[in-house]
Amino acid sequence: MSEKFFRPRACSLHPPTCGLYAGAMKYDFDQDIERRGTDSVKWGVHPDNVIPLWIADMDFRSPEPVIEALRARVNHGVFGYGLPRKLAGVLTDRMKKLYDWTVDEPQIQFLPGIVPGLNVAFQAFAAPGEGVLAQPPLYFPILRDPPEHGRILQDPPLVRNGDSYEIDFELFENTITEATRIFVLCNPHNPVGRVYTKPELEKIAEICLRRRLIVCSDEIHCDLIYPPYHHIPIAALGPEVEDRTVTLMAPSKTYNVAGLECGFALIRNAELRRAWKNISHGTLPGVNLMGIVAAAAGYSQGQEWLEQVLAYLQGNRDFLLKYFREKMPEIGMCKVEGTYMAWLDCRKAGIPGNAAKFFLEKSQVALSDGADFGKGGENYVRLNFACPRRRLILALDRMKSALGSL
Ligand SMILES: Cc1ncc(COP(=O)(O)O)c(C=O)c1O
Repeated sequence: MSEKFFRPRACSLHPPTCGLYAGAMKYDFDQDIERRGTDSVKWGVHPDNVIPLWIADMDFRSPEPVIEALRARVNHGVFGYGLPRKLAGVLTDRMKKLYDWTVDEPQIQFLPGIVPGLNVAFQAFAAPGEGVLAQPPLYFPILRDPPEHGRILQDPPLVRNGDSYEIDFELFENTITEATRIFVLCNPHNPVGRVYTKPELEKIAEICLRRRLIVCSDEIHCDLIYPPYHHIPIAALGPEVEDRTVTLMAPSKTYNVAGLECGFALIRNAELRRAWKNISHGTLPGVNLMGIVAAAAGYSQGQEWLEQVLAYLQGNRDFLLKYFREKMPEIGMCKVEGTYMAWLDCRKAGIPGNAAKFFLEKSQVALSDGADFGKGGENYVRLNFACPRRRLILALDRMKSALGSL
């Protein structure tokens, strides 16, 4: 490991008190890394004076072992078609170790991204005119893509309960019709930050099995969870659930390698796998070679970095919550159990018009517009807090002063 990137130090801004990481922070997440001019969508679409806290990637360097593995691969200089065989072994070991879940290599279907995977599922398991069930507010491609391809979106919203959200199971079940084929679970949930509990997952599974639905479980944020919460892949609840579930995971959020386009679906049921392959073969490209390299290095050597980035993110989350409570109480921040997104309720802030537009124009802070996340998202914004703390403070101060000028 290169010393250049590892600065052992105790950080005064965020003492590692969260229990995730008990040692001194080696990685420097306070480092201000210039991303303008690097083909970054997050940093490329707004003027230079805007602080971009919108799309879901982090402003941190990836784990050093990931960077080293990519560097070695670049130095090799031959970039032919990839074969993720070693990665498949890493993934089966990981599922066993983290979740006591036995996954066999043929179950793994590699993907260039989770959105393509969701779309394969929509087309493989629901015919035109059939239904896809999903619960807004929700990561918007899940709501947008089924109707764009002739499927019916059935969208009973999550229900706000205090500073969090829960599933109204009666509404959930009553929305299911003869035409419903798929339920798309998003766990951890983007944007509301929930990590579903075992009883919640069991109830979802019970309803979906009884109503003969296929569960398509988007678990892309599964490694970004704060104590005391734990991720449970719904498929790991038991063989009956696994038999009706397609699980989607990726290293992209975990190690901040979304641009390298590598993900995977885990499908136990051979019939579902056949239907999946019928749609995906010839339409989806293979996984990016660099994505394979990054994923294998991250999953096998990125744990120390992951623990440290989670400690830093938890510090940012707690800082945000305190800031809103003490200095911007007119904005309500929902509880963040997982992900690096804060879901902010602006309904009582007296903002004229659209809140995301207001903060972009008046404070030069780019947030995601809650309305894009479907029912229940109006007058909310989503804030990505995966950035150096000082940048977060600057953005919050700007937002506060824009609200103060109302
Ligand atoms: C829940 C969820 N699913 C999927 C994606 C996108 O995945 P990909 O970039 O691999 O298509 C995101 C990105 O933010 C997400 O939050």
